[in-house]
Amino acid sequence: MANAEEQVLIALNQKLLDSIASGDWATYTQLCAPDLTCLEPEALGQVVAGLDFHKFYFDLKKPSTTPQNTMCGTVVRVMGDGAVLAYLRLTQYLDAQGAPHSREMEETRVWQKIGGSWKHVHFHRSAPAR
Ligand code: GLY
Repeated sequence: MANAEEQVLIALNQKLLDSIASGDWATYTQLCAPDLTCLEPEALGQVVAGLDFHKFYFDLKKPSTTPQNTMCGTVVRVMGDGAVLAYLRLTQYLDAQGAPHSREMEETRVWQKIGGSWKHVHFHRSAPAR
């Protein structure tokens, strides 16, 4: 059972995923540090720093039905002013013909308390090896 601080971080992380799904750039930038770093498939093995890389995807045409993201098996570790969340991200979405699909990605997201607020500072996203 997550304690109160862990529940805050889980809720913030879900808000972050929801902002990605809905293309809500204002909320995404409010939750992220400007020097966010990441490793994700789109970065082709490079560690990307900053938000410009992510804005490219927010500026694309949004799907008519917002995908739904669920964090599964979430583990939270708070270490002072830092925290790590690890989970499997299950995304339900519709294809161009309107048929529903699901995809899964493994994610580790790092949060840091900066100026009294939790900010997203790093993430690693990869496809499960099966
Ligand atoms: N690709 C943006 C994010 O996962 O935070």
